[in-house]
Amino acid sequence: MIRNETAMTAPQIHAGLDSIVAAETRLSHVDGLAGELVIAGFTAEEIASRATFEEMVFLLWNDRLPDTGELDSLTGRLAANREIAPATLDLLRAAADRSIDPMDALLMGCATISLTAGSEEARYALVAQIATIVAAYTRLRNDQEPVAPRNDLGHSANFLYMLTGDLPDAERVRALDTYLNTVVDHGLNASTFAARVIIATGSDLVSAVTGAIGALKGPLHGGAPGPALEMVFEIGHPDRAESHMRAMLERGERLMGFGHRVYKVRDPRADILAVAATRLFEQGGADPELFDLTRHVESVALRLLEEYKPGRNLQTNVEFYTALLMHGLGFSTETFTPVFATSRTAGWIAHALEQQAVGRIIRPQSHYSGEFGRTWIPVGER
Ligand code: ACO
Repeated sequence: MIRNETAMTAPQIHAGLDSIVAAETRLSHVDGLAGELVIAGFTAEEIASRATFEEMVFLLWNDRLPDTGELDSLTGRLAANREIAPATLDLLRAAADRSIDPMDALLMGCATISLTAGSEEARYALVAQIATIVAAYTRLRNDQEPVAPRNDLGHSANFLYMLTGDLPDAERVRALDTYLNTVVDHGLNASTFAARVIIATGSDLVSAVTGAIGALKGPLHGGAPGPALEMVFEIGHPDRAESHMRAMLERGERLMGFGHRVYKVRDPRADILAVAATRLFEQGGADPELFDLTRHVESVALRLLEEYKPGRNLQTNVEFYTALLMHGLGFSTETFTPVFATSRTAGWIAHALEQQAVGRIIRPQSHYSGEFGRTWIPVGER
């Protein structure tokens, strides 16, 4: 039986919550029509290629840039929290033995960060150790022993060092800083909202970040840079770009790395990462042929998308150049989303701190559309 009055008063349901403003934030502003991303007052173009990741973290957590002493202090606290617990390393070894997906390994590893840090140090431990976990797991997946972190290096330099065991040059460090700064925060996306919901119950930062990683893991949120690069690899040669992508579009497939739910003009992050990738490939010794092929694929893709989907404004998104930059830095495609998480952790924490200050549980309503008035029938009589 459906109650008539319930059906008549059914409220409008905002599945997907697209039009709902659920939080006030000073952290980032996304204008999809203007193609603008503002991070704590700075356009992404202004800050991403200038700040170190530590400066960005301070900015998000304090709403201003640090002076020298403050920057040294934050840098030191991150460096002091890099080492993961032996139990975390054992867990990663067990995960690698079972060929567990890197995002699942990160999810499990993140939850163990409580082993090493109390609530005072949690935010530093999360940002520092998630990088250690990603680097260690990448090596374990490649049958290599993890490289212990060094506390005399900056965040990005140490991250690259833990991946390879070699000290990276300044160009590679700059490229990784730029990437991490570019993707550190992006409005009330699904994983950020998840972090805010968890912290709003009075829970802790490790739980909020672990939950956010669980949300990021889903292919609708964090999954495109790997496939974007795989498409470029499949194309293989500039001469095949047009026929390959034309065939994809004829089959009704999507060109990976193009189009965006929010940006209806070019994603500003794509340009920042394109410039960073250009610098890295020109000066950092990465494969120049792949770089030229990727640029060619982009220009052909944009022409074909306009031809097949006229008026849809399908432009290059952040994932396309993320793929190129990450590859140039030596990350494998399966590591792209975990590396993204190492940056976004700082944004999730900033949102969690903001939500804590609101001090109110997030508890929307649901509309019941089930039966009323059912009577109990014992199991043997059903
Ligand atoms: N290649 C080909 N066609 C596309 C593409 C694409 N990359 N993107 C959208 N379209 C087409 C759709 O098929 C649709 O065509 P139709 O109207 O003829 O049916 C039209 O453009 C509009 O598509 P929507 O799904 O409404 O666009 P939406 O804004 O919902 O989708 C999305 C955005 C999911 C990112 C989409 O563009 C896509 O799948 N892109 C490829 C995957 C990708 O790069 N994802 C990463 C996005 S960046 C990020 O999430 C951080």
